[in-house]
Amino acid sequence: MKQRIMSGMRPTGKLHLGHYLGVIDNWVRLQDDYDCFYQVADWHALTTKYDKTESLRQDVLDVVMDWLACGIDPNKSTVYVQSLVPETAELHIYLSMITPQNWVERDPTLKDMAKILKTKEGIGTQVNYGLMGYPVLMTADILLFNADFVPVGIDQVAHVELSRDIARRFNYVYHTDFFKEPQPKLNKCSLLCGLDGNKMGKSFNNDIKISDSEEITSKKVMTAITDRSRIKRDDPGHPDECEVVYKYWKIFGEEKEVKCVESECEAGSRGCADCKRQLAKKINDKMSEIREKRKYYEAHPNEVEEIIKYGSDKARKEAKITLERVRELVKMY
Ligand code: TRP
Ligand code: SF4
Repeated sequence: MKQRIMSGMRPTGKLHLGHYLGVIDNWVRLQDDYDCFYQVADWHALTTKYDKTESLRQDVLDVVMDWLACGIDPNKSTVYVQSLVPETAELHIYLSMITPQNWVERDPTLKDMAKILKTKEGIGTQVNYGLMGYPVLMTADILLFNADFVPVGIDQVAHVELSRDIARRFNYVYHTDFFKEPQPKLNKCSLLCGLDGNKMGKSFNNDIKISDSEEITSKKVMTAITDRSRIKRDDPGHPDECEVVYKYWKIFGEEKEVKCVESECEAGSRGCADCKRQLAKKINDKMSEIREKRKYYEAHPNEVEEIIKYGSDKARKEAKITLERVRELVKMY
């Protein structure tokens, strides 16, 4: 029996290269060795965007199309949508009963989310009850499949730690060892920053989408910041102070190419504009197959919907088995 992997993403629309290199690529590599469950967390999206649901359906489709294009294989992994597995909500109820309130209140990622909300204006500026349950809902996602490992970015690790505590507490309260304590699994790849040197994110306008065209990618790369001390083309540069372009080279280029960029930059024989043009080509080459595949799915949305339906049915069958056992343990009618 293979060990289990469970992970998810909120449907934030088209994904960017940070998602690809930071998370999805890792998920793809885990598919052969583990029994994987990959979920689009549409209820988690509602915890902060319950009043902005016009694009929710399309956002779910976009996320799944990006996953498939990047190599998530629905014949190997179970790809599903959270709300299509309503057993998640029932498990969330049981878990919410045994989770002390101060455990969720001290979750640092949740605190950050609440802080960001409070700086915005409008009706969504209160912390709602559903948002407080965010990590408990995530725990339900994970425990529903009794996952061994949860591959996530560093920002989600606090939530996974909490899910271990909740699993342990459930086992203690109901005198069982039914739930495993899931372990976070971090990606080795360093985080890809945005084109302005800050965290890559759609709302910061500094990202390159998986689905961006070559032209758009090139245009965006040209806006990247470089070594600010360079004024003229033949000024000697400092690759280590070139926070974005050189870092990207190290991720997208071969070792030989990176060495070449470094020495030419230091010698002042490489202009930043040319350097960025070459980098854009590098990125486009690396992404071209993925982008072709994505275009295929864009042209065949019915196929994507079938994949979602198939995966969600499959996930649901597993979920029902867990729920039956949980109801027994809790001694429900
Ligand atoms: N909260 C995660 C994020 O924003 C998404 C998520 C939902 C998740 N359920 C999960 C991740 C279960 C891992 C396991 O990225
Ligand atoms: Fe950065 Fe390339 Fe310019 Fe050097 S030449 S500062 S590596 S963009």
